[in-house]
Amino acid sequence: MERTALRLEGLEASVGDLEILKGVDMSLPYGEVHAIMGPNGSGKSTLCHVLTGKSGYRVSGSVLMDGLALAGMAVDERARAGLLQAFQYPVEVPGLGLGVLMEEAADSLGITEEEAGARIASEARRFGMEPFLDRAVNRDLSGGEKKRSEIFQMAVLAPKVVVLDEIDSGLDIDTVREVAQAVSEMRSDGTAVLMITHYSRILDYVKPDRVHIMIGGRIVDSGGPELADELEEGGYDAVRSRLGLAVHATPRPESKVSDLFTDTPFDFD
Ligand SMILES: Nc1ncnc2c1ncn2[C@@H]1O[C@H](COP(=O)(O)OP(=O)(O)OP(=O)(O)O)[C@@H](O)[C@H]1O
Ligand SMILES: [Mg+2]
Repeated sequence: MERTALRLEGLEASVGDLEILKGVDMSLPYGEVHAIMGPNGSGKSTLCHVLTGKSGYRVSGSVLMDGLALAGMAVDERARAGLLQAFQYPVEVPGLGLGVLMEEAADSLGITEEEAGARIASEARRFGMEPFLDRAVNRDLSGGEKKRSEIFQMAVLAPKVVVLDEIDSGLDIDTVREVAQAVSEMRSDGTAVLMITHYSRILDYVKPDRVHIMIGGRIVDSGGPELADELEEGGYDAVRSRLGLAVHATPRPESKVSDLFTDTPFDFD
């Protein structure tokens, strides 16, 4: 039987009175990359936060990682159990060197010092992170360098489940390809990847095993990579009308933007 890295059943999350996730079901087997796509505000980042155990949400439903129920586990316990997230906006960690962070993280995951040293050296070489090992985590790195650093960290730690929130935003064309390649290589017997993205560009390089579409806090459709192509062509409204969901009408402005400007900016008379 296929082993499941991550299984979500009826996952709901709310903040105060606001229901954000309204029952998410999905199953991510080891060795696969699944993409989640969805309009702004549909709950994708919230799903990531809830999976990694960020506080502040009222959560119900079930999350199983390799059969282990994650409910009630703190962020660091989930990380030690093998669930790691790369962030949409990576944060700086002043005073903590990247190399030291990786040694400590590897140690907490039970990776031996020798193995950790070898992985850090080889992955740093691969991602061009050698100059950054002695610098504070993400300090003064460009946006793209931060994303590369996140991927480097995932490659060293080889978690069971990798959650990537918009790892491709703000990357130049070459770096998207490089990051995509690394994500593809992470797909192994012991690792599964859940990747949130707005653009099918990265999916040209990482062929996802499945694409899930999240709208309004639910996964409304799942399929192969061709779903991403449909989105590229017709946007979310194409998916909404195919599924019989209310099409999100964008109100047309009464006046055109150009009406706000005069042809002659300095109109002295
Ligand atoms: N802590 C919070 N308090 C109040 N509202 C929140 C909170 N977190 C998220 N939301 C709201 O929940 C909705 C989903 O947010 P989320 O960040 O998950 O969207 P997203 O799908 O990741 O969007 P994007 O594509 O823009 O990154 C948004 O409307 C957001 O304003
Ligand atoms: Mg988001």
